[in-house]
Amino acid sequence: RRSSPDSNMIWAALLGITGILTLVLLFFSRTRQENEPPLDKGALPWLGHALEFGRDAAKFLARMKEKHGDVFTVRVAGQYVTVVLDANSFDSVVNDTVSLDFISSKNQLLERIFHLKLPGLQPAAEREWMERYFQGCRFAKLCQTMKANIESLLLGEVQGSSASEWKQDSLFSFCYSLLFRAGYLTMFESTGNANVVYEEFRKFDQLLPKLAQGSLKKEESQTVNSSRERLWKLGSADWLSQGSGPLSWQQSYLRFLHEEGVGAEMQKRASLLQLWTTQCNNGPAVFWLLAFLLTHPEAMEALKSEIRRLNLQDPSGHHLTSNSLELYHTPVFDSILSETLRLTAAVLIKRVVVEDKVLQMASGQRYKLRRGDKVILFPWLSPQMDPEIHPEPQSFKFDRFLNNDRSVKDKFYKNERRLKYYTMPWGAGRHACIGKEFAIATIKQFVFFILTHFDVKKLEPQAQLPPVNPSRYGFGMLQPDGDLQVQYRLKRSQSET
Ligand code: HEM
Repeated sequence: RRSSPDSNMIWAALLGITGILTLVLLFFSRTRQENEPPLDKGALPWLGHALEFGRDAAKFLARMKEKHGDVFTVRVAGQYVTVVLDANSFDSVVNDTVSLDFISSKNQLLERIFHLKLPGLQPAAEREWMERYFQGCRFAKLCQTMKANIESLLLGEVQGSSASEWKQDSLFSFCYSLLFRAGYLTMFESTGNANVVYEEFRKFDQLLPKLAQGSLKKEESQTVNSSRERLWKLGSADWLSQGSGPLSWQQSYLRFLHEEGVGAEMQKRASLLQLWTTQCNNGPAVFWLLAFLLTHPEAMEALKSEIRRLNLQDPSGHHLTSNSLELYHTPVFDSILSETLRLTAAVLIKRVVVEDKVLQMASGQRYKLRRGDKVILFPWLSPQMDPEIHPEPQSFKFDRFLNNDRSVKDKFYKNERRLKYYTMPWGAGRHACIGKEFAIATIKQFVFFILTHFDVKKLEPQAQLPPVNPSRYGFGMLQPDGDLQVQYRLKRSQSET
């Protein structure tokens, strides 16, 4: 059969388009230029390494580090991302606010996860407002209210049961639910629906990594959408009709947004963002800390003996309370917290390159970065898990941050250089965690109250820590895949610590 002139033309046009596309791809396809970091585009066109990155960022970046060293550029869903893993060179990223931009990368995520756009809001003004709130007399009040909420919720768990009666629970759910509800009552609403908000929040939080990566399945997408809607409704606060009473943290925040010209709809969405930012890390942090203590008896004994020593030292003759914890040196407690966060705080610090930049490495090497690319640091991999800085980095060593004389150890070295960033759970530079002091106070209050008022033990004496959920690398505190079953009961007397 002879083909018609029309079909010949169609074939010719298709061949032409394919040829042009191939030429365009070859011409524009990125190659490594002189003085640029090693480039690894991955096998998949456009997607590059996106799937492996999303499945387990820690494993993927460790593999790339092994292959390319401390600096390399990878393609992830059409975007070129330069990864810097030399802690001695972090300052040239976190301190550069001219060529590297934090805000545009944050805004992309806010829109995707929270459907939030705040074009009129000055990020510096918002940060300043928050810093002011988390300092001074308001900070002290916040800590006091948080402490009261933690204690009443914890005692509520054993209300009505006798001191000899053991209760059983899953440690992660127990810690997350308690810290979330205490934080919610302290900063958001002092009455009402903390339990309902927590249940809805967990559904949203569990799917958050997939939501951020754009890899939700259809039914997961529906769950996220309905949870977000419910959380918007549950969490919206009316600060206007408050009358003369003091405003909660959330109400003050919403008033601040209103004064900055943010409308009611975006205020509601910003509220959910702040619920996540302020409540998603403390629960998991306390879970890991208690889980490490329960699986490392020498650490538990060291901490209990520090608490006993403090009680003896207390000049008032009364027992130390978690209220007064910050007045005391607690180097063992602090080392245990630092070691917990070294192993389980896994944020990705991201910046967008807004103008071509030369990245100056501590080694003297210089790398060109292209405008439009992204730069990320992943402190969990380096410095936190670097065996040259922290020997046997996978092991929990409660005294890793203690000198022999029990003073705080803050001198760590790599290639004979003392490190400024030897662990980095709170981020660094201008965009580091605003709630750090509040978080530390809260975590210590919670653990102190548990150890002084409760007996806690693993249900199965041989039980080990659950593994990490690998999809959480890059999203702040890690969460476990599974849980640890525990039993607890009220102590007969506090002096048993
Ligand atoms: C274990 C607990 C916590 C850890 C490990 C942690 C860690 C971090 C990190 C690493 C960042 C920087 C993120 C980035 O560079 O993109 C951050 C930001 C922030 N954190 Fe925390 N955080 C914790 C608890 C808290 C708490 C309890 C609050 C407040 C009550 C809080 C408030 C904030 C805020 C407002 C920011 C945003 C800073 C900005 O956008 O400039 N954090 N946190």
